Amino acid sequence: MQTKDLGLHKDCKCDTKEVIKGQVLDPFGGAGTTALVSDRLNREATVIELNKDYVKIAKKRLVSESPLFSNVEVK
Ligand SMILES: C[S@@+](CC[C@H](N)C(=O)[O-])C[C@H]1O[C@@H](n2cnc3c(N)ncnc32)[C@H](O)[C@@H]1O
Repeated sequence: MQTKDLGLHKDCKCDTKEVIKGQVLDPFGGAGTTALVSDRLNREATVIELNKDYVKIAKKRLVSESPLFSNVEVK
């Protein structure tokens, strides 16, 4: 079996084995590259983008280039 370290480690002394994914915030989202890379590194991403055309481009890229179970939500 092959394993891959995604950099998610428990960082406290709490009595749990649960590890919550890291959260990336990109306040200038553009075409969504930061969100794509976040997804590939198993992180959650929140993207803010002013330009509606870029929002459409970013959504299209995320849906087509990220794994099947990614949840892309535009608000
Ligand atoms: C160079 S791009 C960012 C690239 C992006 N970080 C990536 O990973 O591909 C900059 C973006 O910031 C957006 N932007 C500029 N001012 C903004 C604002 N006040 N709020 C949200 N987005 C803004 C622009 O529309 C542009 O798409």
